[in-house]
Amino acid sequence: MNGRATIIGTGSYLPKRILTNTELEKIVKTSDEWITTRTGIKSRRIAGAGEETSVMAAQAALKAMEMADVSGPELDMIIVGTMTSDMVMPSCACLVQKEIVAENAFAFDVSAACSGFLYAMEIADRYVKNAPEMKVLVIGAETLSARVNWQDRNTCVLFGDGAGACVVTGSEAEDGLLASQLYSDGGLWQLLSLDVHPRRYCPGIDYGTIPDRDSFCDGSAINMVGKDVFKYAVREMGNAVEKLFIKEGITVDDIDLLIPHQANIRILKSLAERLNLSFDKVYTTIQKYGNSSAASLPIALDEANREGRLQKGDLLLFSVFGGGFTWGVVLWRW
Ligand code: UT7
Repeated sequence: MNGRATIIGTGSYLPKRILTNTELEKIVKTSDEWITTRTGIKSRRIAGAGEETSVMAAQAALKAMEMADVSGPELDMIIVGTMTSDMVMPSCACLVQKEIVAENAFAFDVSAACSGFLYAMEIADRYVKNAPEMKVLVIGAETLSARVNWQDRNTCVLFGDGAGACVVTGSEAEDGLLASQLYSDGGLWQLLSLDVHPRRYCPGIDYGTIPDRDSFCDGSAINMVGKDVFKYAVREMGNAVEKLFIKEGITVDDIDLLIPHQANIRILKSLAERLNLSFDKVYTTIQKYGNSSAASLPIALDEANREGRLQKGDLLLFSVFGGGFTWGVVLWRW
């Protein structure tokens, strides 16, 4: 059997607390008008007590498992794309495993910032190619509200929390992951970073010069050079899609729906324009949820799925871009 990853269930979890632009006007010097026109965001969800990253991830997972009719013990592997795990150790995936009682699964996190979900999906695909009977939980989950500086209007208005999940297995049929291409460029890391773990130095040891990045990062919150990230995101996602189209011998007209990472409505409009893709073929949730990093694509996928937007046989395009830089595209037959 020559399998490829196919999705048999989707789920998502959004925190209860809705933070509107109007509320943000009382926190930083900003306006609903600025946020709406520059980003498309009207509100975002903020995780509260009992809504840690692993808890949201497990809730999203349970919904996906219910749709897939797969129980915890039937799962073989759990991969969570996240940069905001509850703890550095254990992984978020291990905490999810405990929560959903998936005693037969091995579990680990993937750290690829906003691209984490697609990186995780690509790994799942490689596994089920060799073992199509495997049942894999692929999750994107983030609590970015805990990692922004709430006095920095350049970043705090952008991000939100949540989780999205898919149950994936191998398929011999025509559906599933048709093609993918992932990219990274660590040389541009300074344009988007988050250094939350304070370094501890052993007293009495001469370390010489403290590395560059200690002075660059403020040590607790997301740093972003927004304009540059914007430019690279449009250019690199556009290049990646065009290369994939050429490799797969398809054109933009073959695409039924683009489900992208949700960072900025203007990025999505620029990308659609560059690809010559009608914007009504771009699925957006950014208005409601802001940028929830690795969670944004699987949340959008679950919403599109549950509202009946995805028809069997549709050709979907997933595209992501995030810190690292990391980015990638996936072509998917629904
Ligand atoms: O998840 C993947 C990674 N993230 C992204 O892809 C985000 C990419 N970048 C962006 O989405 C946009 O660059 C931003 C939304 C972050 C910023 O939009 P921009 O159009 O690039 O604005 P800017 O940074 O050039 O700032 C324009 C002005 C500045 O004022 P001056 O210098 O012109 O007086 C900013 O200080 O807007 C000001 N500004 C704000 N004003 C009101 C920045 N943030 C705010 C704010 N409210 N929240």
